[in-house]
Amino acid sequence: MRKNIVAGNWKMNKNLQEGVAFAKDLEAALAGKALKCDVIIGTPFIHLASVASSTKLGVAAQNCADKASGAYTGEVSADMVASTGAKYVILGHSERRTYYGETDAILKEKVLLALANGLSPIFCIGETKDEREKNVHFDVVKKQTVDALFELSAEDFSKIVIAYEPVWAIGTGLTATSAQAQEMHAYIRQTIADKYGKEVADNTSILYGGSANGGNAKELFACPDIDGGLIGGASLDVEKFIPVIEGF
Ligand code: 13P
Repeated sequence: MRKNIVAGNWKMNKNLQEGVAFAKDLEAALAGKALKCDVIIGTPFIHLASVASSTKLGVAAQNCADKASGAYTGEVSADMVASTGAKYVILGHSERRTYYGETDAILKEKVLLALANGLSPIFCIGETKDEREKNVHFDVVKKQTVDALFELSAEDFSKIVIAYEPVWAIGTGLTATSAQAQEMHAYIRQTIADKYGKEVADNTSILYGGSANGGNAKELFACPDIDGGLIGGASLDVEKFIPVIEGF
């Protein structure tokens, strides 16, 4: 059966010392608790090796290059990410799509390289406010999924974690209602079932992201198709992150 996952995405926050200290504090705070989900922290590149070697928490990069290696100044390859001990990579976040021009075609390459290097992509999809108001949100989310992921084999697809992050809910305090999130998660799962079959769809973890916090996690995670969260702001403080993890 699919895993429950709570993943933090620090985005561009915390220097190296702050990040390593946070990971140790979080691990200590979780020790002895009977967790009902896997916990992952998505750190900037420079933290990956230190955090992965000093804690047992799951560790994710927030990006990787769309090229395997070579003369691409400033880029970090999937092989380099995997060599740190990180097991996950967040790909397709709306901030990468919007600010850094990442298209479905680029993301498709990143997904392939991540998988080839043994990383599980946490693949983000989600509509803008305008797209929801125009009632095209289901089409947008389907296209993002199909264009970047649906040429994968069923075996490779089964290594993907999906994160539904409505862009209008990210960092805005406007969480999708649990009904809105459940409706979209069920749609995504059906879309996966139509392509890969019910078993693969039932085994795919689909996380919700967008102003999720300790106050709304429990209600969101109680929905049958919501298998956890990708958490931005509320993942930056141990005291705020723990109640999200305990939403399960
Ligand atoms: P917030 O939780 O800050 O809204 O961010 C969500 C997000 O973008 C996680 O990737």
